[in-house]
Amino acid sequence: MRIFSKPFHGEFAVSHSSSDTKHEALFPIDPWAIQQKELSLKHATLAETVFAQANGYMGSRGTFEEGMEGNPTSTEGTYLNGVFFREKYSYPEIAYAFATHNNKMIQVPNGKLIELSVDGERFVPGKSQLSSFHRSLDFRDGVLERKLRWKTESGKELELASRRLVSLENQHLLALQYTVTALDFDGKIELKSGLDASYGVGDLDPSDPRVGQLSIRESLEQCDQALGENSLAFSHRVKDGDVVIRSACRQSLSGADVQTLPSSEESSKISNCYVINLKKGQSVTLTKYLAYHHGKVGSESQLSKEAEQSLAKAIELGFDHYVDAQKEKLKSFWDSAEVNIDGDPALAQGMHFNLFHIYQSVGKDGRSNIAAKGLTGPGYDGHYFWDTEIYVIPFLVYSYPEIARKLLEFRYSILDKARERARQMSHDKGALFAWRTIGGEECSAYFPAGTAQYHINAAVAYATRQYLDATQDWDFIKQCGAEMLWETARIWMGIGHFNPRKDGKFCICEVTGPDEYSAMVDNNFYTNAMARQHLRTACEVADYLKANDQDRYNAIKEQIGLDESELESWKKAADRMYLPYDDKLGINPQDDTFLDKPKWDLANTPDEKRPLLIHFHPLVIYRHQVLKQTDVVLAMVLLGEQFEEELKRRNFEYYDPLTTHDSTLSTSMNSVACSELGLYDKAYSYFTDTARMDLDNRHGNTDYGLHAACMAGSWMTVVMGFGGMRIRGERPAFDPYLPKQWKGYSFSVCYRGGRVKVEVGAEQVRYTLQQGSEMSITHHGKAINIKANQPTTEPLLAKQR
Ligand code: BGC
Repeated sequence: MRIFSKPFHGEFAVSHSSSDTKHEALFPIDPWAIQQKELSLKHATLAETVFAQANGYMGSRGTFEEGMEGNPTSTEGTYLNGVFFREKYSYPEIAYAFATHNNKMIQVPNGKLIELSVDGERFVPGKSQLSSFHRSLDFRDGVLERKLRWKTESGKELELASRRLVSLENQHLLALQYTVTALDFDGKIELKSGLDASYGVGDLDPSDPRVGQLSIRESLEQCDQALGENSLAFSHRVKDGDVVIRSACRQSLSGADVQTLPSSEESSKISNCYVINLKKGQSVTLTKYLAYHHGKVGSESQLSKEAEQSLAKAIELGFDHYVDAQKEKLKSFWDSAEVNIDGDPALAQGMHFNLFHIYQSVGKDGRSNIAAKGLTGPGYDGHYFWDTEIYVIPFLVYSYPEIARKLLEFRYSILDKARERARQMSHDKGALFAWRTIGGEECSAYFPAGTAQYHINAAVAYATRQYLDATQDWDFIKQCGAEMLWETARIWMGIGHFNPRKDGKFCICEVTGPDEYSAMVDNNFYTNAMARQHLRTACEVADYLKANDQDRYNAIKEQIGLDESELESWKKAADRMYLPYDDKLGINPQDDTFLDKPKWDLANTPDEKRPLLIHFHPLVIYRHQVLKQTDVVLAMVLLGEQFEEELKRRNFEYYDPLTTHDSTLSTSMNSVACSELGLYDKAYSYFTDTARMDLDNRHGNTDYGLHAACMAGSWMTVVMGFGGMRIRGERPAFDPYLPKQWKGYSFSVCYRGGRVKVEVGAEQVRYTLQQGSEMSITHHGKAINIKANQPTTEPLLAKQR
């Protein structure tokens, strides 16, 4: 009996997604790569996003070396994660403690730039005549490859082949190789290879709040530039800040007779220039290395040295070394993170694409995070949100726990800023994380859908608990976690109270929950339920430390001035937490007044009026029962063990028809809920939306960046939804089913030092321990022990109706 067929390789020549005929696939279906077989203006900006490359420190959009003509929204961008420009907000009408500054992700000089000319004619994508074109980014290689043939106006034909990478081995390095072959002529070609600190941003819609407006000219001030024969460099200072950036380039040509011309310099754009004599059939290859380093003002000479070292090392090791290193890094990533789908190459592609991009963009150094759009575009100015803790960390905890820890370390690194914010918000104790930020300060200028989302504190606590459970990394808790959990827990006591009008229950007023189509409400169910969990986690961690490391416990308590009576009040608040319930409907109201409002008539809202947020004033939306994204249902998923199945069902049936899913954070969680409730067709349809959201540009806004939470959420839809994975009794429990559209699927889960691969077939499930010597798991409620080198096969209970 076949449990699972071999993984897919190679390309499937179908022009639309086999999973969903409503949405046309914009790129050819290939489970392991994104490709373009023709150069079209139609999805040109989208292509810049989906072909983006990153390594967690740096990200660069998939723009062409030579630029693009005819695409006004083309958006150049090379970004540094965690480095930002502080821009002062100006409010025509201000109130106390409004966010004062924005943090804008920094764009660094574009070093991809190459100009190729023959007989004075420049090669310009979008304008020049091509006889063939192919470009691909393979998720196992991490190298962007392009090959095309250009016919010049004078009738000469050239082949251009390039490879580009953002190194996963040296996070400071971007490298490219550009080979030009004269196919049918002997003659001269000219290459101008530059570093551009003056590039502009595309013509993106300024009325859409989700589009970021990043600009290199606004944020960087040039301090220095250097032009050598085969080298270029800039030093910049972030305006009004204390950060300096060194961008340096070294390049060389091989394969032909090259004449080096004087370097060129036009306002903040510097280039090395070459003339090359080619014989028919001969090629010349330009190899270009770029190093980006940043540090504090004063470290300029150190940074220059570091950049030179990165470049010297690159030259010594050579381009192919970095190509091989990409493969190695990605192999180890896929070994533990791969989700495979047998029976639907389009969805397999979606999953691989999503997880690949998360791995590329996620900060891995404890000093940076993952922006809502990763490092793929200017959207949301590169801000970090709760997306990290509720969507990205679960994937990493069970696939790459080392990176999950780094993200939590990042949160800890901004704890002081969260303390500052808490004081601004009149909390005399504790820490309130910014709703959106890079450096830690609150950057949300619209507080009803920003600062009011206090649930971000609970998200950090939830992720900390999940990480701790899966890794038992008490070292992290002792170093950072406990302090962070306790400081953030304090805030609930600052905004909640035991309400005599509600039987002395603990009520939390004037907050916004995940659903941003309701704002400033009392007792948002999700917030209260997550706050309860947060307070309980804070107490459990205190109990553990008290019992196991009294010294550390006392030290942290002393450091933050925590009193035992506070712990008691947390227990009491958790026990008496008010969770709204409506007897008549048998559901949890989203908040105290939600059910009193009229329902939005979604059936009669035309597509041109969606998403609601860009067509209606917030007040119009807030007056209705309508959801931007899943809220009560999200609580049912995240805290599933606390609620009865019938309550979950009633909640889902009530809220699902009111949910617009105008936020891409929504469908993955609803898919998980549907799987649990046996609503298999719906689970599948939500899953397809999640898995191919960006590849098919289903929300129409991928031009300015990918949706990291949605991409990571697709992992949850497979593993927690179809695979039914939950942690029960300190072991991974699986309750899988096979969507009827598939032949099988597989994924792996890391837990407490072990890693189990789960392969679900038509009749059986195979569990293989890939790491560790033994692991206890549960299969459809039955406890089993799996051992290294002894795959265990269990029957799949038929669940799908
Ligand atoms: C969602 C938020 C999310 C943000 C960044 C918004 O549209 O409503 O929940 O954090 O996007 O992804």
